[in-house]
Amino acid sequence: MSSPEGPPNLGLLDQYSQGFMVSQVLFAASELGVFDVLAEAPGPLGSDAVAARLGTSARGTEMLLDVCVSLKLLQTEVRGGKALYDNTELSSDYLVRSRPRSQHNMLLYLARTTYLCWAHLAQAVREGKNQYLKAFGVPSDQLFTAIYRSEGERLLFMRALQDVWSVQGSSVLSAFDLSPFPLICDLGGCSGALAKECVALYPGCRVTVFDIPPVVQTAKRHFLSPEEGRVGFQEGDFFEDPLPEADLYILARVLHDWTDEKCSQLLARIHQACKPGGGALVIESLLDADGRGPLTTQLYSLNMLVQTEGRERTPAQYRALLAAAGFADAQCRRTPGATYGAILARK
Ligand SMILES: C[S@@+](CC[C@H](N)C(=O)[O-])C[C@H]1O[C@@H](n2cnc3c(N)ncnc32)[C@H](O)[C@@H]1O
Repeated sequence: MSSPEGPPNLGLLDQYSQGFMVSQVLFAASELGVFDVLAEAPGPLGSDAVAARLGTSARGTEMLLDVCVSLKLLQTEVRGGKALYDNTELSSDYLVRSRPRSQHNMLLYLARTTYLCWAHLAQAVREGKNQYLKAFGVPSDQLFTAIYRSEGERLLFMRALQDVWSVQGSSVLSAFDLSPFPLICDLGGCSGALAKECVALYPGCRVTVFDIPPVVQTAKRHFLSPEEGRVGFQEGDFFEDPLPEADLYILARVLHDWTDEKCSQLLARIHQACKPGGGALVIESLLDADGRGPLTTQLYSLNMLVQTEGRERTPAQYRALLAAAGFADAQCRRTPGATYGAILARK
C-alpha cells in the first residue's frame, strides 16, 4: 500500500539490510591494521603501498580503502593522477590502536564474538536466551564460564570493555560528586579501567576492584601498573562471598547482565554490606521511560539477549530494584552525548 507522501522508502530498507556490510568494513580495516599503517607512515599512502605493508591483495585493499573513504573513516587526495589515503580525525583518534582513546579492542570483540552471537538473533528471540551454544558450541548455564571460555577470550573481553572508559569514564564518574566516598568498591570491576579513572578524578579516594579469581589474576598480569597504588584487587563471587567494606559500591555494566531476580539478590547483599549513609552507584546505558529509545540502548538490550541473561533498563526500573533492596533517594543523571548514565542511591 502506498502512502499519500509517495511510495515507501526502499532506500531505508537498503540502508538497514546493508548495515552489517558497513560493520564488516570497519572491523576488517581495524583488524588488518589499515589505520595503524597510515598513522605510522610519514605521509598519505597509495593503496599499493598500504597493501604491501599489510601483506594484503592489491585488489581487495583498494576496494576496502575506497569504501572507508565513503564512510569517512579515511580521506583521499589525488597527486599525479594517483589516489593517496590518510586517516580522518575520527579514525586517527579512535581507530589507531596506539592512541589513548582507541576503540580497537572493542571492535575486535564485536567482530569475533558479538557478531557471531547476533547471527542467531532470531533464535535468541524464539528461545529468550543467549546464543553461546549456537555460536561457539559452549553451554551457557554458567554465564561467565561461557563468556570467558578461553584465556584469549577473557583477555579480549577485558581489553574491549576498558576501551569505553577511556572516552566516557571521567564524564560518567563526574555525574555525581563522589568525593564524600573515600573508600569505593567497584563490584565486577574487571580490568580496573573505571577504578583508574576514579582515582585520577578523586585524589582522596581508594578503590577496591572486586571480581572473580580468573579476572583478577588476568588484571594483575596484564593491566596493573605501579602508579595505580590507590587501586587494589580482591577475588570473590559477589553472589556468594563477603563483600569488601566500602563507603560506595559501584556497579558498572553489571546489573544489565542479570535477571531482575539476580539483580535483587546482589543489591540486597550490597545493602547489607553498606554502612548507613553509604551508597550504590549504578552505571548503565539507560532506556527512555517508555523503553522505545535511544536506539543504541535498545540495540544494547538485544545484545544482552544474545550474550547474557539480562537486559538494559529504564531509570524507573533501576530505582525499583534499588528501592526493593532498601536503598533510598535514588537520583539519575544522564551524561550529555554519552552512552552511559549514573544512578546514585543511599542507604
Ligand atoms: C559486563 S562486565 C562489566 C565490567 C566493568 N564493570 C565495566 O563496566 O567495564 C561484568 C563484570 O562482572 C564480573 N562478574 C561476573 N560475575 C561475577 C561474580 N559472580 N562475582 C564477581 N564478579 C563477577 C565479570 O567478570 C565482569 O568483569
